[in-house]
Amino acid sequence: MEQKREKFSSSLTVFFATLSSAVGLGNIWMFPYVVGQNGGAAFIIVYLGCVLLIGLPTLISEFIVGRGTRKNVCGAISKVTDKRRFKSIGYIAVLSTFCMLFFYTVVAGWVYSYVFKALFGVLKGVTAEEAAQIFNSTSLGPISPIIWQVIVLVVAGSILGMGVKSGIEKLTKVLMPILMGLLILCVLRSLTLPGAYSGIEFLLKPDFSKVTVSVILSALGLAFFKLSVGTGTMVTYGSYFTEDNNLIGTAGKVAIADTGVSLLAGLAIFPAVFSFGLAPTEGPGLLFNTVPLIFAKMPGGSILSIIFFGLAAMAATMATISLLEVLIALFTEELKISRKKSIIINILIIVLIGSLAALSANPDGVLANIKIFGFTIFDSLDKFVSNILLPINGLLVILLLGYGVSKDFIIEQLTNKGRLKNQKVVSLLTFVIKYVTPILILIVFVKSFV
Ligand code: PFF
Repeated sequence: MEQKREKFSSSLTVFFATLSSAVGLGNIWMFPYVVGQNGGAAFIIVYLGCVLLIGLPTLISEFIVGRGTRKNVCGAISKVTDKRRFKSIGYIAVLSTFCMLFFYTVVAGWVYSYVFKALFGVLKGVTAEEAAQIFNSTSLGPISPIIWQVIVLVVAGSILGMGVKSGIEKLTKVLMPILMGLLILCVLRSLTLPGAYSGIEFLLKPDFSKVTVSVILSALGLAFFKLSVGTGTMVTYGSYFTEDNNLIGTAGKVAIADTGVSLLAGLAIFPAVFSFGLAPTEGPGLLFNTVPLIFAKMPGGSILSIIFFGLAAMAATMATISLLEVLIALFTEELKISRKKSIIINILIIVLIGSLAALSANPDGVLANIKIFGFTIFDSLDKFVSNILLPINGLLVILLLGYGVSKDFIIEQLTNKGRLKNQKVVSLLTFVIKYVTPILILIVFVKSFV
């Protein structure tokens, strides 16, 4: 039976839903540790350049494809172009969505378990060794990381079961403002610690000698990861946008707000890291190894740690929901399977393969010895998605818009059929999409492989 397609109800809910996909573990877990590993401020400047010249045009392109067709990612790509060479973009998007979900839900599971650890006082007064031990046992398994991963998927699946309006829209409209408020609370606490200034300096004082080609590739991958482009998520969410939504305006606001949240997360973490003499270069364990330590040593830390991990869990759930929606829309529209069944089937697939990632994330994990090009299953999924699949898919979408669809279609979407008087911005953007963004992505790519 053909199901009626839902839509978000207003430009405000479009903004919150889209932002809820962009804001996630990328801001709270990945951004701080990647910034820490790549030298701080200089990396942030390169990152901002990638967001502006590459991430933003790609995000707008995905919105155009989504809203212009009102279909799932594969259906949308087929509808938007009759050039056969572009059809594979939809399949690559689905592959990146699956690969992303395999490892993203593992980290989300750790975050969920930390919410409970914070609630039950397990993190109270921990020392560095105890914090490391707690993280080790959380990720080691073999059973608990998979159980937490399943819980994340069941929570996300239950919300998705309520539909686009009653599920995604209702939840994101309430949770996004709460999340911002809580984050600001953590920042204020961190900034008032003794010695917080070194952390601010680390975030704001650039040292360009640290910028190498691999740093630029990391910044590019992070920009795609952060804005949720390259997986079909923004095509799918775009397909639920209102007719009168200003696509360029929404993309700009989402990029600014998302970058703001990342910087706030940096401001919550680094001043505290420096204040307590911890290492900013800690890597993926930064959130789990150092944040409990920060709160353990802080007055009011128990409550703040519950707030902080609760916030990370909310953000991770909403981003997971947006990824899953790509698959649910695909299964319901292309395979004509009911929404409920599509959710169950996809959760089963993700748990089946994602558990391999869960069991390989810890160096002592059951599957940690299996290496793909020298990386564990977990690390290779992370690298394959962030550094290869997302940029390739982003590049293909940009090329599709620049060379595979009619200019009228793009202009119709960007001006809302001529109702918006934004011709100058539209001309600049179409130029950037055609000539600037694809060349930049190609340069970064080729350089990093050479
Ligand atoms: N943007 C999310 C984050 O920063 O955590 C991750 C993400 C969600 C990436 C959805 C891609 C995606 F399609």
